[in-house]
This record gives sequence, C-alpha cells and structure tokens, in this order.
Amino acid sequence: MTDPAGTDPTLESALRTHTDYGVEKLEEADLAADPFAQFTAWLAEAAERGVYEPNAMVLGTIDPDGAPSIRTVLLRGVDERGFAFYTDYTSRKGRALLANPAVAVVFPWYTLHRQVKIFGHAHPVEAADSDAYFANRPRGAQVAAWSSDQSQPIASREALEQKVHDAEERFVDAPEVPRPERWGGFRIVPDRVEFWQGRTSRLHDRLLFHREGSDWRIERLQP
Ligand SMILES: Cc1cc2nc3c(=O)[nH]c(=O)nc-3n(C[C@H](O)[C@H](O)[C@H](O)COP(=O)(O)O)c2cc1C
Repeated sequence: MTDPAGTDPTLESALRTHTDYGVEKLEEADLAADPFAQFTAWLAEAAERGVYEPNAMVLGTIDPDGAPSIRTVLLRGVDERGFAFYTDYTSRKGRALLANPAVAVVFPWYTLHRQVKIFGHAHPVEAADSDAYFANRPRGAQVAAWSSDQSQPIASREALEQKVHDAEERFVDAPEVPRPERWGGFRIVPDRVEFWQGRTSRLHDRLLFHREGSDWRIERLQP
C-alpha cells in the first residue's frame, strides 16, 4: 500500500491523529437502570456540551441482496418503546427495513470521547404518530417530502426543482400539506445498547445493556 501521508503534511497530520482520551470514565455504578434513561442522560449532556447535531445517528441496514448500507438520520423521539426517526418508506433504507428490520446504529459524539451503539429491529410507527410529526415540520420540508422520491436517480437539479414547483402548485390553496403515505417514522426497538467512554491508553470503558426478557443485563466489554 502506498503511503499518501508521506507527501502531504496536512494529510499526514490527519492520518496520524492520536488523541489520548482521559479524565472521564463510565462505571457500572454510574449507569441508569435501563438504556433509555442512560441514553437520554448522555444525549442531554451532548447537547449541553455543544455537540453539533447531537441527535444525528449513523444507521446501518441490510439491503435485500444482503449488502450492508449506511446513512445519517436524525433521532426524533426516544422513550421505553425505542428510538424514532422519520424518512421515506420507499427510500433505500425504507425498503431495506420493510424487508429486514435488523439495524445497527452509532451516535458518534467524538468531542466528548463517547459513542453509543444500538442494535435491534426497526418497525414503522403508528400512522397517527407520523401524521403528528409531519404536521409540525416546516412547510418547505413538507413540500420536499412530496417532491423527492428519496434514493431514486433524477436527471438534473433542474428536474428536482421542477418537482418542488409542481408540489407547491398542488398545495398552493391547501392550509395544511398532508403527509405523503410513503413518508413516516420507524421506531428502533433495541436488543443491545453499548455506552462507550474513551479512556487513557486505549483502555476505554464499554458497558453493554443486553435485553433479557423485560430486564436488562449489564456486561463490561474489553476495549
Ligand atoms: C445530519 C444529517 C441528518 C439527516 N437526517 C435524515 C433523516 O432524519 N431522515 C432521512 O430520511 N434522511 C436524513 N438524512 C439524509 C440521509 O443521510 C440519506 O442521504 C437519505 O435518507 C437517503 O438514504 P438511503 O438512500 O440510504 O435511504 C440526513 C443526512 C445528514 C447528513
């Protein structure tokens, strides 16, 4: 393998970055009773401590041909039922999840030296929940949901803008833009949730909540 870093000092510095985490730790005694409470506490802390888009998560799915696929989505709700996000059910991820609900998620809160990983299954939320969420979106985002067949190819930017224009015309006299049937939420029901805290000399803390019936078992993993 060639070493591109050898010729470009900026690239070299990027590839050689080595942060020795420290100071903070995560111990069994610090954990909340369930992963939802623990996650909520860390999410609030991420927001308070200035993480940019702390609700952004990288979502991994499995395509119908077995190939993995990933993308970022925004978490829009969390409670004991699971982790909710919204999308187009006919998008690549939407089709993948309707065929195979298995998911893996990571919240990469690098500036806090933390990540949360979630493994489980995602299912569509109730239509009423999608309606309620859609109704609160800005009108531009509502029109965009009608204008974009997410993940499908399009000939040009102009063609996309024409679709937006057509959707605006369609709803010009409508006080409310209705939710397209193909747009809505998924809720991820976790089987495992791992909380990772970076520590010095790569001896990080990894505490895993593992679902056991209606309880959660906690396991420490080697870094
Ligand atoms: C910060 C960020 C937040 C995003 N949030 C969402 C989201 O909540 N829902 C969504 O469908 N796409 C969201 N996207 C776009 C997705 O990453 C992705 O491009 C799109 O959903 C199509 O993915 P797919 O082709 O794998 O289905 C977001 C992208 C970024 C960078």
